[in-house]
Amino acid sequence: MSGTDLSAIESELIAEITAAADLAGIEQVRISALGRKGRVPELMGRLGKMPADERKSFGAAVNQLRDRVTTALETRKGALEGEAMAQRLASERADVTLPVRSGPVAEGRIHPISQVFDEIAEIFADMGFAIAEGPDIETDDLNFTKLNIPPEHPARQMHDTFYLKSPERIARGEAPMLLRTHTSPVQVRTMLSQKPPIRIIVPGRVYRMDSDATHTPMFHQIEGLVIDETTHFGHMKWCLEEFCKAFFEVDEVKMRFRASHFPFTEPSAEVDVGAEAIGKPGKWLEILGCGMVHPKVIEMCGLDPEKYQGWAFGMGLDRIAMLKYGIPDLRDMFNADLRWLRHYGFTSLDVPTLAGGMGGMGG
Ligand code: PHE
Repeated sequence: MSGTDLSAIESELIAEITAAADLAGIEQVRISALGRKGRVPELMGRLGKMPADERKSFGAAVNQLRDRVTTALETRKGALEGEAMAQRLASERADVTLPVRSGPVAEGRIHPISQVFDEIAEIFADMGFAIAEGPDIETDDLNFTKLNIPPEHPARQMHDTFYLKSPERIARGEAPMLLRTHTSPVQVRTMLSQKPPIRIIVPGRVYRMDSDATHTPMFHQIEGLVIDETTHFGHMKWCLEEFCKAFFEVDEVKMRFRASHFPFTEPSAEVDVGAEAIGKPGKWLEILGCGMVHPKVIEMCGLDPEKYQGWAFGMGLDRIAMLKYGIPDLRDMFNADLRWLRHYGFTSLDVPTLAGGMGGMGG
């Protein structure tokens, strides 16, 4: 009954296979021919209803048909895959002789603040200092009181503090939270949580209500703190002098320690550097405040001032970045202007090292 029937089906399927234009098309033909509800399984399904003598020869014929269709499908698929690959090779051809595109590593720039911090960290790490950090939102107690600046102290006004709205704290009779006005609260945090000897530097953002060409409401400081049983003012002078020489990459640097006053240090000094280090002979530039940590501060931080002493400094990071790299206006540092960053920024491969130099290619 089915001889002609089968060969017609076979030539139909073979025609469909030949006509399939791409891999998706050939897959469709495969499903319609061999898939679960396809034509070949349908033919097989007829076997059950056939008389036994017909069943044998019809089954064998369908098996042969299926083998030939399968072979035809694979052959066509192989050919189509070859075509697809040839097409991709032609369209995705890469000209390996073209010059390399610059890409994100070469395009991106390190901000001078980050660069200068990396330089400073490198110098102080070499002298055995670790890096510590603290939060920007600080308590009145850590920003002022434990630094020997009690509530009625005039220094509080000089700090032009940003206070946060803290109705719950005020209802409880507590002082409001504030944006830290200096990195010195991290001195306190460190003394409260670590045992001497302590040798840390602390980079961070600080906030004061102030804005002109040399002041922005947010700026950066780097704090230093050394606490042990014997360290003294001479050690501090030496460390700061070594720092300046390494940072400005000069053999000799003129430094001037002027007596000053901070509630948390005694004695206190402000330090100027001779600006010949940056090519302005005869001028002095103030870069930091420093002093011996006040015994009261040591005591309020839970250490015995009879046993421990130490020194601290606070340096304007933006300030010395401007000095070293000749950046005229502080406000430009925070404007996120790409042209400015391309000019004053550093490439990511220009990592400062003591051996290789501090900030050679940028600036
Ligand atoms: N915290 C001081 C300031 O912001 C600087 C300073 C730090 C002075 C540590 C002495 C010791 O002006």
